Amino acid sequence: SDFAVLCCGGGNAAQVATGLFAVRYNTIAVSFFADEAAKWKAALGEDEFELTLPGGGVMKSKPKDITNDPSVAKDADVILLVVPSFAHGEYFEKFAPHMKPGTIVATMPARSGGDILFASKLGDKAKDMIFCGFETLPWACRFTEWGKKATVLGTKNNILAAVSPVSATKKALSKLQGLLGVNPFVEESPNNLGISLRNPGMCIHPGVMYGRWGPESWDGQAKDEAPLFYQGVDDFTEKVLTSMTDEVQSICRKMEEVAPGLNMKDACTLKQWYLDCYDGQMKDTSSLKACMNTNAAYDGLKHPCKEVEGKFMPDLKYRYLSEDIPTGLCFAKGLAEILELSTPQIDKANSSGIKTWQDMSVCLSEECRTLSTIFSRKSGNMCTVVLQGCETARACNNA
Ligand code: NAI
Repeated sequence: SDFAVLCCGGGNAAQVATGLFAVRYNTIAVSFFADEAAKWKAALGEDEFELTLPGGGVMKSKPKDITNDPSVAKDADVILLVVPSFAHGEYFEKFAPHMKPGTIVATMPARSGGDILFASKLGDKAKDMIFCGFETLPWACRFTEWGKKATVLGTKNNILAAVSPVSATKKALSKLQGLLGVNPFVEESPNNLGISLRNPGMCIHPGVMYGRWGPESWDGQAKDEAPLFYQGVDDFTEKVLTSMTDEVQSICRKMEEVAPGLNMKDACTLKQWYLDCYDGQMKDTSSLKACMNTNAAYDGLKHPCKEVEGKFMPDLKYRYLSEDIPTGLCFAKGLAEILELSTPQIDKANSSGIKTWQDMSVCLSEECRTLSTIFSRKSGNMCTVVLQGCETARACNNA
């Protein structure tokens, strides 16, 4: 097929996506990260990429090229970003001068405000392009031999995707569904604001870490073992999470009030999100805590920790904070400020609210402390919030 796809990134997810798309489509892998593209190209050499599927089947394919040259965007029909959100801005910026009108650009997964970031990086060209934010990555996946072999551990049945402008939804989603194959089913979500405020990681990750390592429940001493992340959610953490998700709901209700007709149905509560996404995998769904404690998909997952003299301290630079606060929670907080809503629990769960973390100064880097600046000033507009959040996430990642 001469339908041309760029698959961006070079980690677990990008390698899997490249392997999958290249079976049927003219696919170029693009990575702007250091010399990753050249390394990957060398690692693969003359071989085909090998993708093992959940049933044990193996698919072989070969991307047309693996490059760090942004000008390949000139022939692309679809550009998929399958990288952590701190890198999204760089891809948008570098592709912008080359993209042809009508290019579909999708982030997989999107983080909060992906559409706003896209519009701001593309400038005048944005109006001729189609942006699609996926709520999550459809696969749990890992490469097994870097650059050559990867495994899909599981595929979701359904994933939500929102398209901006909404008028391009049918066109974009049918192309993207074709790329992904039969599973997952790509379900249409009314708008990207819904995807932004649905973002479950922005509440779950900082909320669960606050519940375990915050000043209200932790004495600051290293632990003998890394605590269980989901199975370790107790009544206190459940209360933190419920308050956070309720604060996000109040933002949704206020948005519906100020923008009549706006459909926020997909920006649901955390409990509803579990029911939507993990149906049949939880033994007990009577409460949010039960959903998290009894979800088979979470079995044995631990808090991100650093080993210190044989004991465990929280890893405060892990994605759960360094990604989910700046490109998640800050979005919710920024919108709340514009709408003049207070969010006391979200404020506590942000890093500046956890005094102990700052005292340990293993917290986030100097730049990342600007998080507290985002939280404490009037946000101005969402574009500023999103751009600052992305810069912060990038700085955290490079720290
Ligand atoms: P990964 O950690 O394997 O991605 C690493 C890649 O990010 C690198 O190969 C590089 O291309 C890019 N990168 C790293 N540092 C960079 C820098 N300083 N500048 C520019 N680019 C840089 O992540 P993975 O597993 O591929 O996941 C991608 C996204 O999908 C993440 O947001 C993750 O949270 C999400 N996700 C992944 C799942 C999985 O099973 N792998 C499941 C659900 C979500």
